[in-house]
Amino acid sequence: MLTTPRKLVYCILVTLRYAQAIGVSVPFIAPANAPRVSGSLISLSLEQDRWTDWVGTTSKNDFFLNTLDNLLQLTGEPTQIRIGANSEDHTNFNPAIQFSQTTFPAVTSTVPYPEATNITVGNGYYQAVQFLPNGTHVIWGVNFGANNITAAFMETRAILQAFSSPAVRNAGIILDALEIGNEADLYPNNGLRVKGFSLAEYIQEWTTFASNVSATASISRTSHTKFWAGSFAGSSHSTSGFSPQALFSNGLLSSASGPLISTFSQHHYSGSFCSGSGGLLQDLMTKATIRSNLTIYAPDIIETRAKGLDYLLGETNSYSCHGAPGVSNTAGAALWTLDYALFAAQLNISRVYFHDGVGFKYNLIQPVTLTRSILDGSTLATPLAAHVQPQYYAAIIAGEAIGNSGTTQIAELSISNARLAGYAFFEHSRLARIILINSDAFFQGATSRPAIHVDFSFVGGTPDSQITVKRLNVGHADDVTGLKWGGQTYETPDGRVAGDLSVQTSTVAAGVDIQSTEVVMILFT
Ligand SMILES: *[C@@H]1O[C@H](CO)[C@@H](O)[C@H](O)[C@H]1NC(C)=O
Ligand SMILES: *[C@@H]1O[C@H](CO)[C@@H](O)[C@H](O)[C@H]1NC(C)=O
Ligand SMILES: *[C@@H]1O[C@H](CO)[C@@H](O)[C@H](O)[C@H]1NC(C)=O
Ligand SMILES: *[C@@H]1O[C@H](CO)[C@@H](O)[C@H](O)[C@H]1NC(C)=O
Ligand SMILES: *[C@@H]1O[C@H](CO)[C@@H](O)[C@H](O)[C@H]1NC(C)=O
Ligand SMILES: *[C@@H]1O[C@H](CO)[C@@H](O)[C@H](O)[C@H]1NC(C)=O
Repeated sequence: MLTTPRKLVYCILVTLRYAQAIGVSVPFIAPANAPRVSGSLISLSLEQDRWTDWVGTTSKNDFFLNTLDNLLQLTGEPTQIRIGANSEDHTNFNPAIQFSQTTFPAVTSTVPYPEATNITVGNGYYQAVQFLPNGTHVIWGVNFGANNITAAFMETRAILQAFSSPAVRNAGIILDALEIGNEADLYPNNGLRVKGFSLAEYIQEWTTFASNVSATASISRTSHTKFWAGSFAGSSHSTSGFSPQALFSNGLLSSASGPLISTFSQHHYSGSFCSGSGGLLQDLMTKATIRSNLTIYAPDIIETRAKGLDYLLGETNSYSCHGAPGVSNTAGAALWTLDYALFAAQLNISRVYFHDGVGFKYNLIQPVTLTRSILDGSTLATPLAAHVQPQYYAAIIAGEAIGNSGTTQIAELSISNARLAGYAFFEHSRLARIILINSDAFFQGATSRPAIHVDFSFVGGTPDSQITVKRLNVGHADDVTGLKWGGQTYETPDGRVAGDLSVQTSTVAAGVDIQSTEVVMILFT
């Protein structure tokens, strides 16, 4: 019998759906070089012009605090908060101001929520840190861009005063580090220094500021609070230009403040696109892009760790312009966030601070009601209450995968498929969970949604035959709402989880199917 073309196509699609079966080998015992992974791997960098919108002024912002508490409950480790970024270099201090005074440029369709060009803050602005969850580690930036040491000094004094207040101390909130200036490698381009501003000049000015700031904030070899160094937008990966290698070879660590540096902070965005497309979303999610975007830092990480310093991505996210519309704010970006953070972890990047600002497209969280569209700045018919965006699910999934053992190690699984990434998580050196991410973008309007079948084999031991399977359910890669993790949603008025937990019990031998644009977690007992 002749099959109609339509039926034929259908048969081929159905065949393709199950065509791919992949065998994945999983170590049962943590490999010797598998890095420890922190429960706060996915942390936040906040644009400081609207810091009090995030946290609150005279009372806390419950929505934001709930979203942080959800994560804390999974790992026992509070999300770290870095406050600063571009507006850090446009901030001054005035004791007569209670919280902050800001001047914003005009709204445009590409930048619906611009950063303030001028921020003046008072003591209450820093004191608001008291509302963060108990035990939160904080990193705060002070102004270096304006080259006004009095501004940096007054900010530092106010930060110290806030962190030594009874309210902040009782809440166990800890100042891990101060950062002096944001992306100083861009100063010659953005007018904060003259053209040709060199790394040697940078080090000379930085050490002058650091000497004042460390004396003001009592930063010493024995204090907990230290400096983050770098916070550069890019890296030359060499001893010329701006990079950790160049800082070290030009004597930063042997300067008077050198021993007060704990960490090198690198900033990274996947690219600069102010308008989005499906192609761009697939590029962002693609396994090879994520790996090539991060492995370029491998030499920097090795050099930094060899000096005994920590290495992290202190500010990062998908695309500049505060995200590309229809890309950075989508479910596909949640898969990118998860793969990007987990891949960073196994490169020995100890933490990844996703940059968020009120109304930015690439946010994990929108902490306050928005009245303009984040996509084009148009006035919304109905104001949009505080809510989480798709990327928030990546933080939840990473938190669950890492857990609260305090011993978790991570290893990427070797999978010879351009769309499928996988990671094993070990507790007390034993396999505890696996995460699989299928980054093939399934778009609205597409008719077939292929799946990959994965069969596991184990090396060095055999897990229990029973497994639990939990899925991130995504309608389409370009959806902006409606994600469900194990059947549950975080898209609720108070940011708390809602809905019934839905997981499947299965056997290791059965393997798992994972469809395009899906995350699967396998839990071993
Ligand atoms: C910034 O704002 C403060 C307070 O409103 C004002 O005194 C100062 O002149 C402004 N600075 C610039 C550069 O506009
Ligand atoms: C830091 O700079 C401020 C402003 O110039 C000055 O008043 C203060 O004494 C300096 N502190 C130290 C310890 O150098
Ligand atoms: C530097 O900051 C101080 C403290 O806010 C301010 O009084 C002074 O005007 C600033 N200097 C310049 C040149 O802007
Ligand atoms: C914060 O946690 C510490 C240690 O568990 C505890 O002693 C303290 O009372 C807590 N503070 C608040 C405000 O809950
Ligand atoms: C990230 O990878 C993409 C695809 O290879 C490339 O176009 C982009 O330039 C990379 N971005 C960075 C910052 O390396
Ligand atoms: C991460 O650090 C460990 C311990 O120093 C090392 O064995 C491993 O090779 C490092 N991994 C990478 C990708 O550099």
